[in-house]
Order: sequence, then C-alpha cells, then structure tokens
Amino acid sequence: MTRVFSGIKPTGHLTLGNYLGAMRRWVQVDQHRADALFCIVDLHALTVEHDPARVWRLSRQAATLLLAAGLDPTLCTVFVQSHVDEHARLSYLLECVATDGEMRRMIQYKEKAARERERGGSVRLSLLTYPVLMAADILAYGTDEVPVGDDQTQHVELTRDLAVRFNQRYGTTFVVPRATHPAVAARVMNLQDPTSKMGKSEDVGPGIVYLLDEPDVVRKKIMRAVTDSGRDVVYDREGRPGLANLLEILAACTGGNPEDLSGVYESYGSLKKDTADAVVEVLRPVQERHRELCADAGYVEGVLRNGAERARAMARPTVDAAYRAIGLLPASADIGVSV
Ligand code: TYM
Repeated sequence: MTRVFSGIKPTGHLTLGNYLGAMRRWVQVDQHRADALFCIVDLHALTVEHDPARVWRLSRQAATLLLAAGLDPTLCTVFVQSHVDEHARLSYLLECVATDGEMRRMIQYKEKAARERERGGSVRLSLLTYPVLMAADILAYGTDEVPVGDDQTQHVELTRDLAVRFNQRYGTTFVVPRATHPAVAARVMNLQDPTSKMGKSEDVGPGIVYLLDEPDVVRKKIMRAVTDSGRDVVYDREGRPGLANLLEILAACTGGNPEDLSGVYESYGSLKKDTADAVVEVLRPVQERHRELCADAGYVEGVLRNGAERARAMARPTVDAAYRAIGLLPASADIGVSV
C-alpha cells in the first residue's frame, strides 16, 4: 500500500491556503487510498523566534483542526512530531549527508533569514537545517508520496536527493519519495498582495483567510481582495494575479476549473461574492466540528497518544537500519561485529 506522509507547522493559525493546498486532499483522498500519516511538526516551529505557550496552543489547535477537517484516526495516523524521537534521531544522520551549500540554496531559508535580519534579529541555526529535519520526517516512514502545496516542492526535492545519496553511499535504506500537489490552489495567494503566498507565519491581516474566521470576516476579506485593473474576468496568473487567485479559490471550493469559471462572470463583484459564499460553505462544517472537538479535549489527546505510538513503531525499524548502515554500533548486547 502506498505510504503517504505530510505535516503542518504550528507557527500561526491555519489558513485557507493550508486547507486548499494540503489538508483537504489529506481528508478527501489520501487517508482513504493510502497508509497515511499526518503530523503536527512542532519542532519546526522552533526555528524562528517563538513564544513557548503559543506553540503549545497552536499545536493543540492544529491537531483539533485536522480532526475537525475530517482526518479519521481509524483510517490514518495523526500525531505530534516531538512525541516521536525518531525524527530528531534521523535528522542528525541526514545532516551528515547534506551539504552546507545545499542548505543555503533553499528559497525559504533565504527569504526567512533575510526577513529576520531586516528585523535586526539573529538567524537560528535550525532555520538553516530545517529542510534536513523535514527530510527525516518523510524518510523515517518509508514514504512514497508527500501531498503538499507548491511552496514545499524544493524541500521534497532535497529529501529525494538525500535519500538517493544515502542509499548510494551506505546501501539502500530509504524509499525515494515524490511530492504531489492539488490540481488547483497549490499556491493560494495573499488577498491583499496576490504576488505573495497566503502564509500563516508571516503576518496577520486582511489578506489571509483563517480557517476559524467568522463568516462575516471571511466575506469582508474576500470582498476587499485586491483585484487587477481591467474589467473583464479572465484567468491569467501572470498578468492578472489577483483575479486568478479568486478564480482558483472558487474553483477549488466548488470543484470547478478556473479557466471555465472565468467565462461565467461579467463583473469582479459577482465573482467575489460567489467566492466568498463558497469559502464560507467550505469552512462551515470544519468550524462546527472544531467547536465540538474543543469541548472534548480528552478525545484529541487520545488520538495524539495513539498516533505517536503507531508512528514510533513505523519509524523505528527504518531509523535503526539507517544507524547501522552509516556505521553506528547497535545498542543491543548482540552487536554481531568482530573487531
Ligand atoms: P506549512 O505548515 O507551511 O504548510 C502546511 C501545508 O500547507 C501548504 N500551504 C499552502 N498551499 C497552498 N497555498 C498556500 N498559500 C499554502 N500555505 C501553505 C504547504 O505547502 C504544506 O503542504 N515545511 C512544511 C511542514 C513540514 C512537512 C514535513 C510537510 C515539515 N515536515 C514533511 C510535508 C512533509 C511547512 O512549513 O508547511
């Protein structure tokens, strides 16, 4: 059976971008057709300045929202990264395979480090090594497919490179995974700045729709979305990014195609209104279920506890095999090595 692994970082409230780019496919497709693991990757949230209490709260909220969105713990494994030591154990080995140059070429590192320096802050070493930990997340589970939004493509490519290099040097240990992306909305853009991604970590504001935004807030944000000059509704990602973003959001929410939808609308106003209605309808059941789950903290805790146990058992053999392959003595008494 295909093994699927994906993760979400508790660095901010989850957004419509997270939902359409990743979570929705996990719920509607991946958990039904694959042996799937979905992880709240909390260690990744420590790579930038953070408030411990906030990371704690956001991790909990992310877990609750994943379940509210429809992940079913009888079909898939939902867990928290820091509950499974294998991620950090494997990450160090992969650091011994990755190169400094490779890390410095990562786009997200360059952007985030530049932002941090602009603010006068210091760049944590873990921000540089973050993609290696992500590779460990994926490789520990013998993952075949990694369902993600567009922005994670480079990280998954690096994961593939590290897997191949490790296998060549030390013997076949890892499955070489591949990224999968949704047909539309693989990169939902900020409604106020449609040339940059709708990201949860970067900022707050009117350009980001959060999964827990009230319907009237969602409507307001979408009705005020920046559109491009011009009057006709056409789908042109390069030339008319604001409009294209709305068409993609609408297509993703209604199961349509942005190109076809552009022919349906004569004004920006009616496109915005329908997009707002569609988003509100997509979020409504998630928000309702989230309210119910918030009243049942024991349930979420139980899911995460069981999930971590299952994940540990899945990751352990691969990570142990990597330790042996790279030349580390097994801890057990019978090491089977003659000196
Ligand atoms: P994160 O937490 O930034 O995002 C989680 C998922 O949501 C997708 N996504 C988007 N898709 C479309 N449009 C957007 N505006 C948008 N914003 C976010 C992301 O592509 C991602 O699929 N490094 C990862 C977390 C991670 C991970 C992993 C993912 C750590 N280890 C192993 C997969 C496998 C990240 O920061 O995702």
